[in-house]
Amino acid sequence: MAQFWKPGTERPPLLDDDEGGILLYSASSSSSGYGYVSIEKQRQRLPVFKYRMAILYLVETHATTIVVGETGSGKTTQIPQFLKEAGWADGGRVIACTQPRRLAVQAVASRVSEEMGVKLGEEVGYTIRFEDLTDRVTQDSTRIKFLTDGVLLREMMEDPLLTKYSVIMVDEAHERSISTDVLLGLLKKIQRRRPELRLIISSATIEAKSMAAFFHTSKKRRGLEGEDCVPKTEPAILSVEGRGFNVQIFYVEEPVSDYIQAAVSTVMSIHDQEPMGDILVFLTGQDDIDAAVRLLTEEAQNNRKSSSGLVVLPLYSGLSRADQDLVFSPIPRGKRKVVISTNIAETSLTLEGVSYVVDSGFSKQRFYNPISDIENLVVAPISKASARQRAGRAGRVRPGKCYRLYSEEYFVKEMSAEGIPEMQRSNLVSCVIQGCSGALEGCLLNMEGILDIRVGRRDKLKALGIDNILGFDWPASPSPEAMIRALEVLYSLGVLDDDAKLTSPAGFQVAEIPLEPMVSKMILASNQLGCSEEIITIAAILSIQSIWISVRGQQKDLDEAKLRFAAAEGDHVSFLNVYKGFLRSGKSPKWCNKNFVNYQAMRKVVEIREQLKRIAQRIGIVLKSCESDMQVVRKAVTAGFFANACNLEAFSHNGMYKTIRSSQEVYIHPSSVLFRVNPKWVIYNSLVSTDRQYMRNVISINPSWLIEAAPHFYQHHHPNSIPH
Ligand code: CDP
Ligand code: MG
Repeated sequence: MAQFWKPGTERPPLLDDDEGGILLYSASSSSSGYGYVSIEKQRQRLPVFKYRMAILYLVETHATTIVVGETGSGKTTQIPQFLKEAGWADGGRVIACTQPRRLAVQAVASRVSEEMGVKLGEEVGYTIRFEDLTDRVTQDSTRIKFLTDGVLLREMMEDPLLTKYSVIMVDEAHERSISTDVLLGLLKKIQRRRPELRLIISSATIEAKSMAAFFHTSKKRRGLEGEDCVPKTEPAILSVEGRGFNVQIFYVEEPVSDYIQAAVSTVMSIHDQEPMGDILVFLTGQDDIDAAVRLLTEEAQNNRKSSSGLVVLPLYSGLSRADQDLVFSPIPRGKRKVVISTNIAETSLTLEGVSYVVDSGFSKQRFYNPISDIENLVVAPISKASARQRAGRAGRVRPGKCYRLYSEEYFVKEMSAEGIPEMQRSNLVSCVIQGCSGALEGCLLNMEGILDIRVGRRDKLKALGIDNILGFDWPASPSPEAMIRALEVLYSLGVLDDDAKLTSPAGFQVAEIPLEPMVSKMILASNQLGCSEEIITIAAILSIQSIWISVRGQQKDLDEAKLRFAAAEGDHVSFLNVYKGFLRSGKSPKWCNKNFVNYQAMRKVVEIREQLKRIAQRIGIVLKSCESDMQVVRKAVTAGFFANACNLEAFSHNGMYKTIRSSQEVYIHPSSVLFRVNPKWVIYNSLVSTDRQYMRNVISINPSWLIEAAPHFYQHHHPNSIPH
C-alpha cells in the first residue's frame, strides 16, 4: 500500500443517543443476511418494517413525527408506502416526500415504483426542477410523489397551503440544506392553518430534540387535542434501530498530499489484498471523481493481475439517467464494483454490497462571507458526523472496513463535530425570494405575527417588512449581515421595494422563474432589450455544470476547441456560438465529440431552454432575437449580475481585478475565453476558490451600464468606484 495504515480505536456509533425526548420508541432488530430474495421479502427485512404500526400510530395522532434511523433502514422507500397502504392517499390526496438532491429523488422514486409494481410517473411519480414525472396530464393518479424541497417551495406559489398533500415527509433533514430549512420554517406555519396535515421529518442523524423543540409550540389552536382530526402538537420522536455491522477504521499515519492519488492507490491495494466486496470512495465533485475514474481505469489496465476484476463507476449529480442506473445495477459475478461518489452516497442513497469505504475527508461546500459578499463552492473538510456516516456505508451487508485518508489525530482533534447548516453559510438572495414567495399568499398563515404579511392575492400584496424577515422563525437563524446583503441586492434588482415588498410585476415575475433571482432578472431585462431568445439560451447553459468534455491530458485540445467558439465579448457570447453550432449540426453527437462539447449536456440545455421559453411566455415575455447585436445581450447580463462587477487593477501585470462592491481580489479563471485578455471591466457569473478567487463565466461590459442597471446600488454605495 502506498500509505501506512493505522487501525483506529473508535467504532462509529450508529445513532446518537436520544433519551428523555418527547416520545421514544425503540426496539432492537436482528441483522439479516444478504442474498437473492423477493422484493416483498427485502421490504420485510428492512429495520423500518418492524416499526410500521408505531409509525402509523404516531402519524395518526401527532401533527409532526420525527423519524431517526440509520441510512438504509428503509425510511425513504418504505414510509410513503406504509402511509399509502394505511389510506393517507385515499380520496385524491397525495403523499409527498422531499429530498435535498435531484438525483436521490429520481433514484428513490424509481425504486418505490418498482417495489409497488407500478409504472413510474403514474401512481408513484417525481418532480425535480425542469422535469416532471407525475401524472398531471391524464387523470392525476399520482399518490406518492417524490420531489426536491426546492420544488415543493415553488408549489407553494400556486397552492400556499399545499392542500393536495395529506402527509409531507421532509427527508434527509440532517443535511440542513437551505431549501430544507426554508421549507421547515414555512411548513410550521402551514400546520397552524391545516390541523389535518401531517409532517414527518426524517433523517439519519439529527439533533431530534432541537428539531422537536422547533416544531413544538405551546400556542392553543382551534379545537382540542385528541378530538377528531386535531393531533397533538407536541412532536413524536421515533428512533429506528439500524442493523449496521461493525466497521473497522484505518487511518493514514502521515497526511496525504494528493487525496485523488491516495484514493486510487488505496482502491488498488484493497482490490489486491482484501476479499470480495464493493468499494465506495468519497471524493468531492465531478472533476476529481472523473480524474480518479480515469486513473483507476488506467491503473487497472497496466496492472494485469487486477485488470479484469474492477468495474469503476462515477456518482455525482450531473450524471445522465443511464449512468446513474449503472451504479445501482448488479455487475457480473466475480467482479468488484468501485463507486466513486460525492457525498450524495453519504446518506441520500444506499448502495448494496459495499464492504470497503475510502474517505478523502473532504466535500464541496458552500461558503459565504457577508462582509466581502463572496460566495464560494470550496473543497473543505467534512465533520465528524459525516465521517461516521461515510464509515457506516461499509457495514451494510457484513462487517466492513473504512480507510480514512487523514490521521486519527486529525479526526479527534481537528474535525468539527457537526457541519454548519447551509443557511448560515450561504448567500441568501435565493432563500429570501423563496421564503417571500412561499409565504406570499400563504402569508395568511401568519397567526403569530412572526412574519407580518397581511396579504392575500398577488395584485394586492402588501407589506413584508425587513424586521419581519429578520425575525422569521427558521430552524437555524441566518446572520443579519447576510440577510441585509441579500435584501440590498434584491432591492437593487427591483425585485423588492422600499418596504422590502415584492414589486409588481417584476418581483412576482422573478419569483415565478425557477432560477436564481439574478438570472431571472437578466431574462426580464432581455424582454425590453429585445434579446430574450439569446438570454434564455444563456440562462439554460448557465444552469448546467459544464457544456465541455474535459479529459485529463487533453486540456490543449479542449482549449483549441473552445477557441473555435470564442467571442471577444466573453464566455456568455461564446456559449451562444456553441449553441448555434450545435443547432446547425442538426444536434449531432459527432459534431459534439469533434468540438469537445458534451452531447448529453447540450441535449439538457435544449430541454431546459424549451421549459424556460414556456415559463417566459407565461409571464408575458416576448420571444425575440437580437441577431448579431451582442451589446444588448451584455446589457441584459449586466441588468441581472451588476453586483458581480469587477475592475482590472490599474498597473496590474498579473490580471488582478477588484470587485466593485467590496474590493476583493479576484482573477479570471483559466477556463474563460477572457483569460489573459483581461478587459478593463467585467462581470462574472460565479466564483471558485482554489489558491485564489477565480471568476467563472465572464463577460466584458461598459461601466456606464452599471449605473443604468442599478443606480441605487452604485450611486449610493459606491459613488466613486465608477467613471461617469
Ligand atoms: O431512507 P433510508 O436510508 O432509511 O433507506 P432507503 O433509501 O429507504 O433504502 C432501503 C433499502 O432499499 C436499502 O436496502 C436500499 O439498498 C434499497 N434501495 C435500492 O435498492 N435502490 C434504490 N434506488 C433505493 C433503495
Ligand atoms: Mg433515505
